[in-house]
Amino acid sequence: MCAERYTDTEYAKQEWQNVWSKTWNVAGLSYHIEEPGEYVTTNLGSESIICVRGDDNQLRAFYNSCPHRGTRISEEGESFINHFTCPYHGWQFDRQGNTVHVPNEDDYPQGSPCGRVGLKEIQCRDLFGFIWVNMDPDACSLEEFLGEVVTTDLASYNIQDTVRVLNMTADSPCNWKIITDNFNEAYHVQVLHPGLIPYIEANHEACQFDTLAEGHNRGWFPSHNPSVLQEGDEVADHLAVIMRQWNLDPDDYYGKENHGRIRHALQNAKRELGELKGYKHYENYASYQFTDYVIYNIFPNTVLSVGPDGVQLLRPRPHPSGDPQRCLFDHWWMVHPVKGVKTTPSPAGGPDLPVKDCEHDQFLYGEKSLGRTADEDLSIAKMQQEGLSSSGFQGFNMAHQERRVQRFHEVLNDYMNKA
Ligand code: FES
Ligand SMILES: [Fe+2]
Repeated sequence: MCAERYTDTEYAKQEWQNVWSKTWNVAGLSYHIEEPGEYVTTNLGSESIICVRGDDNQLRAFYNSCPHRGTRISEEGESFINHFTCPYHGWQFDRQGNTVHVPNEDDYPQGSPCGRVGLKEIQCRDLFGFIWVNMDPDACSLEEFLGEVVTTDLASYNIQDTVRVLNMTADSPCNWKIITDNFNEAYHVQVLHPGLIPYIEANHEACQFDTLAEGHNRGWFPSHNPSVLQEGDEVADHLAVIMRQWNLDPDDYYGKENHGRIRHALQNAKRELGELKGYKHYENYASYQFTDYVIYNIFPNTVLSVGPDGVQLLRPRPHPSGDPQRCLFDHWWMVHPVKGVKTTPSPAGGPDLPVKDCEHDQFLYGEKSLGRTADEDLSIAKMQQEGLSSSGFQGFNMAHQERRVQRFHEVLNDYMNKA
C-alpha cells in the first residue's frame, strides 16, 4: 500500500466520486425529524444535505443548493421551518423541496420557477434512530448495503430510543482514514489506552473480529471485567462503582483468580434487576449485551461502538476544504434514558452529562478534550499522518489481528477501481 491515499489531493477527489457519492452515510438523528417541518442540515466534505419531514409525513433529503444561483439555503444544525428561504434573493421552498415563492416572479421569460424547478433530491432513509442519505440515485437499499449481520445486530439495541447527550466535532490534522484505521483494530489498546485494561478485554485472543461480506466489520470486546492483561488483584474503582450499582460487592471478587467471574455476575444481576431499576432497554438483551462493547465499522466511516447503555458514534468526515490531510472527527454519545437517572458519565471526561438532547460543539483539535480514550487515539493521528508522508514509508506490515484494517483497504480499493 502506498501513502497517496492519505496524502494526495487527486486521490481524495476520486474518493469523493467513487466512495462518498456512492455509500450510505448518517446525516442525523430520527428524533430531530419526527414532525412535518423539522429538518437537519449536515455537511459531508464540501457537500451539504438538508433532511426534512414533509407535510405528507415523508422524510426527504435535498442538496443544500439553491436552484436560482446555487447559494446554500440552510446552515448546519437542526430546527423547524414552515418554508426554507434562500438568504440571497429570497426564493422560498416548501417542505417537499418545491419552489413556492420567487420575488419578481413575472420577470422570468422562461416562465415562473414556482412549480417548475425545486431542490435536488437524494435518497434518504430512517433506520435505527439515524437518518441515512445516499447521493447515488442507483444505490442499493440501506438494508442491502448494511447486510444482515449489521442490520440484525443493531436492531437488537433499540438505538432509536436513545438521546444524544454529547455531540462534539474536532477539526483534526489527519486524513479521515487514519481514524477509521484506528477503530478497525484494537492492537493499540494495550499501548495507547492502558486505562481501559481494568474493564475491557485488551488481549486479542479473548476478543472476536469479523470481516463481513458487505465490506463492514465488527469487533467484540468482553467488558466489565479486567482484561487478562491486568496485573494485580484489585478491582478498579470504575468497575467497583458499577458492581455496587448492581448489588455486587467488589471485595468478593478480589484476587486475579476471581476477576473472570465479574462479567457473568454482572450479566446475571442486570438480567435479574434491570427491569426493577428502570433499565427497560435490557428487556431482550442477550447476556453479552449487558456487559460487552461491540464496535461496528460501517464502510466507509460510520463507526458505532455499542455498549449496554448506549452508543458512541466515532466518525471522521472528509474535510470541507478538500485537504486530504485534515478531517472532521465527530464524537457522539447516545444513551438510553432510565427513569430517575438524570445524568450520565461523560465519555469526554469532566462532569456528568444531563440526559437530554445537547448542543453541537465544534472546535479545532487540541482546543478541548474529546475524552481520554478519544484524545489518546487522536494524539497519534498527526504523528501517523506525518510519518506516512515520509519518503521512508514502506507500506504496512500488519498483524493478523489487524485484518479489519487490511479488509477496509481492500474494500476501498474495490470502490476506487470501479469505473
Ligand atoms: S441564489 Fe437563492 S435566491 Fe438567488
Ligand atoms: Fe483507540
